[in-house]
Amino acid sequence: MKCRICTNSIEPFIFFGKMPIANGFLIENDFQNEFYFDMNTAFCEKCFTVQLEHQPNPDMMFHENYAFFSRQSKKMKDHFKEYADWVFKNYLIGKNDPFVIEIGSNDGILLENFSKKNIRHLGIEPSANVGNEARKHGVNTETRFFNTDTAKHILNKYGSADVILAANVMCHIPDLKNIAEAASNVLNKNGLLIFEDPYLGDMIEKTSYDQIYDEHVYIFSAMSIKNIFGKYGFELINLLPQSTHGGSMRYILSKKGSYKAEKIVGEFLLKEKKMGLDSPKTYEKFRKNCEKSRNDLIKILEEEKKNNNRVVAYGATSKSTTILNYCKIGADLIEYISDTTPIKQNKFSPGMHIPVKNYSNFIEAPPDTTILFAWNHAEEIMEKENKYTKNGGKWIVHVPNVKKF
Ligand code: SAH
Ligand code: TYD
Repeated sequence: MKCRICTNSIEPFIFFGKMPIANGFLIENDFQNEFYFDMNTAFCEKCFTVQLEHQPNPDMMFHENYAFFSRQSKKMKDHFKEYADWVFKNYLIGKNDPFVIEIGSNDGILLENFSKKNIRHLGIEPSANVGNEARKHGVNTETRFFNTDTAKHILNKYGSADVILAANVMCHIPDLKNIAEAASNVLNKNGLLIFEDPYLGDMIEKTSYDQIYDEHVYIFSAMSIKNIFGKYGFELINLLPQSTHGGSMRYILSKKGSYKAEKIVGEFLLKEKKMGLDSPKTYEKFRKNCEKSRNDLIKILEEEKKNNNRVVAYGATSKSTTILNYCKIGADLIEYISDTTPIKQNKFSPGMHIPVKNYSNFIEAPPDTTILFAWNHAEEIMEKENKYTKNGGKWIVHVPNVKKF
């Protein structure tokens, strides 16, 4: 295969097998026609980008029935308020009539904070259903993909922007050359491109291989961001580690030459080298860790079954699609998955077809053991499920190691 960024010849270091659409929760009638692709992940030794060999077409993943609504987590609401305040304080304060664009604005969880301050803003969101939700929260939203055509449209209709923001979407987009060109066209001279995504360093450290699924065509590091966007006229000028989604990184980029890079950028690049994020050996080790994690998880769930324990999963996450299909865990080991998102309920999980049920089932008849698929929201969920735990309910988590407690 060719590296998606620098066209260097590369080979996958891990084969997860056939995978369905991670957010493709489905009804029984659609089992027969379910789509699968080979999920192979590769590392490029030249530009240091971790990437999927194949990715389904964007319109198979992002459409009018998109299943992920950002507002399901209270902690994420707080996080996005903090993100908005940070952008405002650092880059917008004192500006005359600033204009903020967000790529992948989903249900408006970030932009509503600008809307409430009467700041000119625009969400670019191709999934119509989540975009409709955003409009209900006063967020100006256009239903389309961000690309060079959209950039032209924005310039004609709204003019240039001071900042382009994104969260958990840059890593979804295969053609970053086009995105960089579009961003460069829309941003004014001193404009900034700011985005956060799950961080490769955390994934490697925690063996959180479930960060890899169809939408995540890239798992970024500071090294890869510097190389990718450096090729397309941007410079990485600052970064800020985040605790969200199991460990993320916020990257701040400017057009080349318009700002001086902060010291922390160089420090992080060095740190990543020390971690071996530039070395194929790291990914070989990661593959072995994934295999161990898979074996341990299957073993622990089989023990639960042997002991006649009722096991339920918490959070029908996209990440869990990778776990279930890679480990081949089905409804014989997990009774159902509890989730608060209405569009996922009364459907089945992609590929392994475990029923997804309303959270009320979990409350009404608590299981013996709960496997925490939404492990990135552990703090919020542990607080919320304090009573379950106090009453003797057990948990299984697989990150950073498989354990029951
Ligand atoms: N920013 C939100 C949503 C992340 S999910 C959060 O962090 O919670 C990714 C979102 O990006 C989805 O709503 C999806 O529809 C949207 N998306 C995917 N590809 C896109 C593209 N090329 N341009 C704009 N949005 C895109
Ligand atoms: P999340 O981990 O945010 O995303 P991803 O799909 O990217 O892996 O998904 C969390 C899922 O868990 C989402 O479907 C909502 C659900 N959820 C609950 O059911 N209860 C909760 O208390 C929380 C925080 C999330």
